[in-house]
Amino acid sequence: MKKVLIAYFSLTGKTEKMAEYIAEGVRFSGAQAVNRKIAEVKTVSDLTGYDGYIFGSPTYHRDMAEPMKTFLFLAKNTDLEGKMAGAFGSYTHSGDAPAIIFDTMQYVYRMQPCELGSFNLKEAVVDTSEGVRACQDYGKSFAEKI
Ligand SMILES: Cc1cc2nc3c(=O)[nH]c(=O)nc-3n(C[C@H](O)[C@H](O)[C@H](O)COP(=O)(O)O)c2cc1C
Repeated sequence: MKKVLIAYFSLTGKTEKMAEYIAEGVRFSGAQAVNRKIAEVKTVSDLTGYDGYIFGSPTYHRDMAEPMKTFLFLAKNTDLEGKMAGAFGSYTHSGDAPAIIFDTMQYVYRMQPCELGSFNLKEAVVDTSEGVRACQDYGKSFAEKI
């Protein structure tokens, strides 16, 4: 069974909700989803053994959250080359973080960028049926491509 790691930071819970719904979508495809807060991912071995990786951060000050930057330096020490990459996050107006994370996964770690690109959702939409569906679709389509 294919395994997908969804590692995320969330200050007020919106991106965390997205992570849960994306995991549901991954499972709909028959793959296994493992959700981890980035604070729980402390070593390279915590990051190894997955077929695909989806990293999540909300946008703060037109950037990813600071803890996500530290996490990405840990990920740099892991061999992720060729693994499928996705990124997501909640936002209110500019939503910059997922695209920046996605770029790092593609160009620094040399991962395989998923065709869907990065995934942004306005926080007001996260808990609507439309938002839940969008997250599930992202997870399902991502896992089907692995
Ligand atoms: C201090 C602060 C700065 C923010 N800066 C941005 C921003 O630059 N662009 C944006 O789209 N949203 C911005 N937001 C909104 C957050 O991205 C939004 O509330 C998001 O849903 C929070 O996600 P979380 O609940 O996972 O922490 C900001 C929020 C705060 C409190």
